[in-house]
Amino acid sequence: MKDFSIIAAMDSRQGIGKGGLLPWRLSADMAHFKSVTTSSKSGQRNAVIMGRKTWESIPERFRPLPERLNIVLTHNTRYALPEGVLRGSSLQEVLSRVSQMADVDQVFVIGGAQVYKDAIMLAQCRILYLTVIHGLFECDAFFPEIPSDFKIISSEDPQSEQGTIFHFSLFSK
Ligand SMILES: NC(=O)c1ccc[n+]([C@@H]2O[C@H](COP(=O)([O-])OP(=O)(O)OC[C@H]3O[C@@H](n4cnc5c(N)ncnc54)[C@H](OP(=O)(O)O)[C@@H]3O)[C@@H](O)[C@H]2O)c1
Repeated sequence: MKDFSIIAAMDSRQGIGKGGLLPWRLSADMAHFKSVTTSSKSGQRNAVIMGRKTWESIPERFRPLPERLNIVLTHNTRYALPEGVLRGSSLQEVLSRVSQMADVDQVFVIGGAQVYKDAIMLAQCRILYLTVIHGLFECDAFFPEIPSDFKIISSEDPQSEQGTIFHFSLFSK
């Protein structure tokens, strides 16, 4: 099975969501997410794997995420998705399916809380792209505890957007 990365943005208590949505709007973080998940080898594209609730949290006009193979996890085998979007019934099954696709470069797990919790425990999860937002946002969905075998590789200087301070960090194992 192919290695994969996780990408997430979290507040100071690892909060990632509130009421089914992102608790913040940071255009620099959205641009970072787009750049990291879209950049691929020429002739290939990356895959983004997400839970059904994260899929539903993306406004219809912005989904599927362009230039990436979108894969949605759900236990509902009749869940309707647009053409070109794959449905998966388990993370392992989806990861082994993408490993066999010659046109897929990198694989990213993009949330939400339920999917991160399973994904971070898998041996093939090698890199965490984490945006850390300084502050608390009354979240009801949280990023899991980071296993101790992940080590911090880089932490960029904090930046500020409309009074919200955040920084990009990278962990690997
Ligand atoms: N800050 C960030 O970086 C970030 C990123 C993404 C999402 N979020 C936030 O996270 C929140 C959503 O997280 P969530 O935990 O509630 O939902 P989620 O993980 O997005 O989706 C959960 C759903 O995905 C399906 N699912 C999950 N694991 C599965 C598995 N192993 N096999 C098959 N299906 C599986 C199930 O769908 P069925 O019920 O249909 O079976 C489950 O109900 C929202 O607030 C969202 O905005 C934040």
